[in-house]
Amino acid sequence: ENLKDFIHELKGLNNIESLLKDKLGIEKVIVVPGDIEQDPMIKKELGKSAANYLKTIINYDSIIALTGGSTVLEVANGMPQLYSQSNIVVVPARGGLGREVEKQANTIASILAKKLGGTYKMLHVPDNLGKEAVKSLIKEPDIKDVVETLKKADILIFGIGRADIMAERRNLPQDIRDFLEGNNATAEALGYYFDREGKVVYATPSIFLTLEDLKFVKNLIAVSGGKGKAEAIVSTCRSGNVQVLVTDEGAAFEILKIV
Ligand code: F6P
Repeated sequence: ENLKDFIHELKGLNNIESLLKDKLGIEKVIVVPGDIEQDPMIKKELGKSAANYLKTIINYDSIIALTGGSTVLEVANGMPQLYSQSNIVVVPARGGLGREVEKQANTIASILAKKLGGTYKMLHVPDNLGKEAVKSLIKEPDIKDVVETLKKADILIFGIGRADIMAERRNLPQDIRDFLEGNNATAEALGYYFDREGKVVYATPSIFLTLEDLKFVKNLIAVSGGKGKAEAIVSTCRSGNVQVLVTDEGAAFEILKIV
């Protein structure tokens, strides 16, 4: 840990963090050395760093909501066994069935809950549901319970992706992809697609935690790195839904070229 602090200092990352914080207009930025696109091990460091921050804000009875993705997965993996027993509840913010099981919010919630000695809830909902299906599903007692818990979350940990890549990964129909492109969507987070200014361009129908709900979540933590995601990270910060950003050096320097 001392060596890590030393490298952080040596690379001037403390200065970069405060510069980014001001330019992005958010509360806190944490930058880990390296670029996850160059070295997959960096994603683990990113995860550990986010987990360390999480430890400082977690309460014994926190409700933690999280999204899927390979980066948030490393946050759960990077969390040490913190408590053997607690009242902490971890809930998936998205259904996300259809993506690889390891990277689904459900799976990550169970991993993190175990590390925190808490419990978890599952949201068994596919990502590509239509509006009507979502409306009726939300009345199901199991799902209703998860959604009610979600709305009481005090911590949200979420990933950020590039709009084009996420649209492809989610197999969105061509007309929606064209729409996203035509409207200059750059980022995807929490099921929302944002443009450069942070305006919502499109919302996935299967959203259970809305942007409106986020106003009541005390800690909004985005975890995302890699040079190629710089623009997506900036857009999401501009949307006003990020308080704390945990990122890597690769993204950080690229972001500074944009903002
Ligand atoms: O699908 C869940 C999600 O968090 C998306 O909202 C986000 O765009 C993506 O995963 C990030 O994935 P990764 O961390 O694997 O790049």
